[in-house]
Amino acid sequence: MRPRNGVAAASVKTFVRLVLARDQPLRLSEMARRAPGTNLLAAYEFLDRPYLRADTIAKTSLRSLRGIMTDLVRRVFLKSTVAAASAGVSILGANDRINLAVIGLRGRGRDHMATFSKIPGCRVAAICDIDAGQIGPAQKLLDELHNPPPVVYRDLRRVFESKDIDAVTIATPNHWHALATIWACQAGKDVYVEKPASHSIWEGRRAVEAARKYSRIVQCGMQARSLEHYRRAIELVRNGGIGKVYMAKGLCFKRRLSIGRKPDGPVPAGVDYDLWTGPAAKLPFNPNRFHYNWHWFWNTGNGDIANQGVHEMDIARWGLNKSTAPAKVTSMGGKFVYDDDQETPNTQLAAFNYGDAEQVFEVRGLITGSEGNMVLEEEKHYIGVIFLGSEGYLTVDCNGFQVFMGEKRERTQQVQHVEEEIWSTRPHAENFLKAVRSRNRGDLNCDILEGHISATLCHMANTSYRVGRTLAFDAKGETFGADSEANRYLSREYRAPFRVPSEV
Ligand SMILES: NC(=O)c1ccc[n+]([C@@H]2O[C@H](COP(=O)([O-])OP(=O)(O)OC[C@H]3O[C@@H](n4cnc5c(N)ncnc54)[C@H](O)[C@@H]3O)[C@@H](O)[C@H]2O)c1
Repeated sequence: MRPRNGVAAASVKTFVRLVLARDQPLRLSEMARRAPGTNLLAAYEFLDRPYLRADTIAKTSLRSLRGIMTDLVRRVFLKSTVAAASAGVSILGANDRINLAVIGLRGRGRDHMATFSKIPGCRVAAICDIDAGQIGPAQKLLDELHNPPPVVYRDLRRVFESKDIDAVTIATPNHWHALATIWACQAGKDVYVEKPASHSIWEGRRAVEAARKYSRIVQCGMQARSLEHYRRAIELVRNGGIGKVYMAKGLCFKRRLSIGRKPDGPVPAGVDYDLWTGPAAKLPFNPNRFHYNWHWFWNTGNGDIANQGVHEMDIARWGLNKSTAPAKVTSMGGKFVYDDDQETPNTQLAAFNYGDAEQVFEVRGLITGSEGNMVLEEEKHYIGVIFLGSEGYLTVDCNGFQVFMGEKRERTQQVQHVEEEIWSTRPHAENFLKAVRSRNRGDLNCDILEGHISATLCHMANTSYRVGRTLAFDAKGETFGADSEANRYLSREYRAPFRVPSEV
């Protein structure tokens, strides 16, 4: 295939590869020597010349060209992936290194750093957190992992501006997930965003739209989708291994202790609380609403149903093979036993009607027994999914899966997890990087759309819980129809300048 000015696609491709792949300063004349037969100048001209005239390119060092080209190729991709594809251009080849930025460096961010920095062909080139106290430990961790020193940022907008970053991972609290994803897509970055994909239904859809509009690869961090025994279990369920499936029940029996009560107080030194708050309502600083415990406040979190629970909600929907949200939801529960600051329920039951099957979800943060022979995890939790069929049932959790068949419920199969580490993130991270290279979102095991739909189920349940009644849901329009009380929970008041745009 020949691009419009007659330059061979191979020349364009070689040029881009040479520019992007090398770290050392190198002049075009030297590049030409290394790629004989390639019309490098013409290739560069073909890609348009926003910054330099052709006669100055020859005098430009490779280091400068690299920055220019990274931006240029990205803009070509943004304008039209089709045009880029027809030119035979790809940003990353199989052997090119992917420069990743990790945003949010605490519990989950550390997992991201540890996972991605160990994958060949990828390095953590930048780290970002609004809390200065997280930077030192992150640098130390990366040093121990033999990752070269990363560039440090406090404001995620500066990360998105950087031309040296190919992809970002987002491990911030939930209220930032959709907006950060949208901004990253607009800046031409690929994204690995943690679950839940959104803090509300409306913004989740905008994140999907941004991924599509800017042709970005966006993986949602529900790693069970890439773990071998979960994939086998789902295949078995979908292929009739337990007969006709009539119910999938997700269990989040994750033991939670009371968070107690804490007074508002001063913002800790080194913390940019305005940036932490971002699109949420700015409340006085309270240590109970800050790191990690933000999960238990509606302003920033979505309770355990969309925290640990969204994984199991997703696995249940995956097994039922449903690609949209259901048309009906009911949920009830409460925050029982504890008298503390937490707003979200510690005990919650939700049921969804898909017409031909029911999806049920249960959160129990207090002491409880098991169901469906689920195995105790860390000596305190029962977390997994039970699929119930006309011929038997299957229980899957992070340890493996078990199948029980017939009227006697005899155990006919017991399969252990195969990954070295239980609940490993590595296969999911590798899957993301594979898609970043192939530019094919079909390669993703958990595209942002899957993340959005499963988060939607959690948000639907929370809305039913909060309004206190059963709700009908228009899965196509993603609203509660004419139910204005329920529709109030579809989105939020965004705080300028941290607004999720209607038009991404
Ligand atoms: N996939 C999984 O198995 C898994 C496991 C744990 C957590 N998570 C998800 O990861 C996310 C983070 O969880 P956590 O437990 O690490 O939370 P956390 O509150 O402990 O850490 C979040 C970090 O993000 C930083 N941060 C907040 N706003 C930021 C911003 N605008 N820019 C840069 N940094 C910002 C905070 O300072 C903090 O260091 C959550 O959404 C959670 O649901 C996923």
